[in-house]
Amino acid sequence: MKKFGEIIYTPEVEDKLAISKRENHTPRIEVQKEVKAGEAFAVRVFIQGHPNTVQHSFRWIELYFYEEGRDFNPIFVARAELTPEISEQEATFKVKLSKSGVLYALAYCNLHGVWENRAQIKVV
Ligand SMILES: [Fe+2]
Repeated sequence: MKKFGEIIYTPEVEDKLAISKRENHTPRIEVQKEVKAGEAFAVRVFIQGHPNTVQHSFRWIELYFYEEGRDFNPIFVARAELTPEISEQEATFKVKLSKSGVLYALAYCNLHGVWENRAQIKVV
C-alpha cells in the first residue's frame, strides 16, 4: 500500500508519465522569490494546456507553506474550488509570511489525480 505522498505527482516524475506528452498537469507558481516579512504578496497558481470541460478538468487548487524552523509542517494557506468551463484553471492568493520556507501548490484533476509544485520563498 502506497503512502499518500507517493501518489502525488511531482515535477520530478512529470516527464516520465505518458499523460504528460498529451497535456500539462503540473501547476505553475508565479511568485517573487524574496518578500518582506508581514507584507502581503501575490501567489498565482495556474495550469496551462489542459482540458477544462465537465468531463475532464482541474477541480481545486490548494496552497500550503513549509515554514523553516517550525515543529510541525505544512501550514494550510488557501484553497480555490474550480467549476469546469466557467472558472479558468488558476487562482491568485494574497499571502503574508514572517519566516522563510517553501510554498507548495497542489492541484486536482478529476481524471489524473493530484499534482504538485513548489517555490522557495525567502523572507527578509
Ligand atoms: Fe487531466
